[in-house]
Amino acid sequence: MLRRLAATQPDDFAFTPANQKWAEAQITKFPEGRQASAIIPLLWRAQEQEGWLSRPAIEHISEMLGLAHIRGLEVATFYFMFQLQPVGSVSNIQICGTTSCMICGAEDLVSVCQAKIAAKPHTLSADGKFSWEEVECLGACANAPMAQIGKDYYEDLTAERLGEIIDELAAGKVPVPGPQNGRYAAEPLAGLTSLKDHAVGRAQYNASVQRAVDLGETVKRIDGTEELFRAPWQGGAAQEIPRKSAEERGEGVTRAEAEPLETARPAEGSVAPAPKTTPAPRPTPTPEVTPGSGTASPGSKPQMLTEARGGAADDLKKIKGVGPKLEALLHRLGVFHFDQVAGWSDGEIAWVDDNLEGFKGRVVRDNWVSQAKILADGRETDFSARAK
Ligand code: FES
Repeated sequence: MLRRLAATQPDDFAFTPANQKWAEAQITKFPEGRQASAIIPLLWRAQEQEGWLSRPAIEHISEMLGLAHIRGLEVATFYFMFQLQPVGSVSNIQICGTTSCMICGAEDLVSVCQAKIAAKPHTLSADGKFSWEEVECLGACANAPMAQIGKDYYEDLTAERLGEIIDELAAGKVPVPGPQNGRYAAEPLAGLTSLKDHAVGRAQYNASVQRAVDLGETVKRIDGTEELFRAPWQGGAAQEIPRKSAEERGEGVTRAEAEPLETARPAEGSVAPAPKTTPAPRPTPTPEVTPGSGTASPGSKPQMLTEARGGAADDLKKIKGVGPKLEALLHRLGVFHFDQVAGWSDGEIAWVDDNLEGFKGRVVRDNWVSQAKILADGRETDFSARAK
């Protein structure tokens, strides 16, 4: 495939201050004279910040590394993971079109993208939210057909499910990644035939999906947390710091948040606006809130319990979107039963949401209240039945 730089380019490029610090830290990982080795992480970071790699970005990074511009251009145009033209502000959907996926229905998935996004790949949807492309094998052949959306894989797809996923993303939701047909991972479709003990006591989702759910990021590109990962030789404690949303920290604006649709190249036939590269202003920091205190939270605090009634809490993980970490957090807040969640008003949802630490937005995103009403009635949701 011919990979060319976009016809319309911004005037210049600069990392945001947080990304500049991060980039400088990456360079220190390499011995003197070998700084060029940092080119891929730096190009990737620039792409995370802007959504795509512009010529000024490639040249700026080449200069940071003491390279001739052509060296940076060689790398950026060689690797398909680098997007050389603007992509959707929500996501660029990458459909695997290699053998297993093609046999299992990749062409149907491409048709969905053509109908919902744009007739041709590498073209923005009319609202600028999505773009799509066909890519080579992504290594999830046992779960064909599949697509990579943002950082995650959506596997065992059907045309119908992909259409729903695009609609959910357009509505601001983040569909749970991984197999979409109820499979846990890549086990046989008819269920496990060996190693059955492994299924006992396992997490709600397979490892990578569980991680994505716990972190609350899939289509989100960068959130600025990475600047906290300071290498020991930079005087930092090299330990993992719990991730919070950019909104909670009031920093680390994602490219999508910083430039929602302005940089979007409209579908064919429209005039393309010039992409912007000015680092976006940071939003005002949100004050830290002690979970459960309610002192600075919007809405009203729902009635909480000090312990589960009768000493037996409901399995809140039956609510789609609630993993072990969120369940423990809910317990700390005083939520133990489905009927508590089922009764939340809009104001109470706002309060709970504000106290969900790194999981803000989950209550509405995953429709906890509707799910909890069904579960409180003793019935099963599609998800809880599958999870069983
Ligand atoms: S063929 Fe699609 S993931 Fe390998």
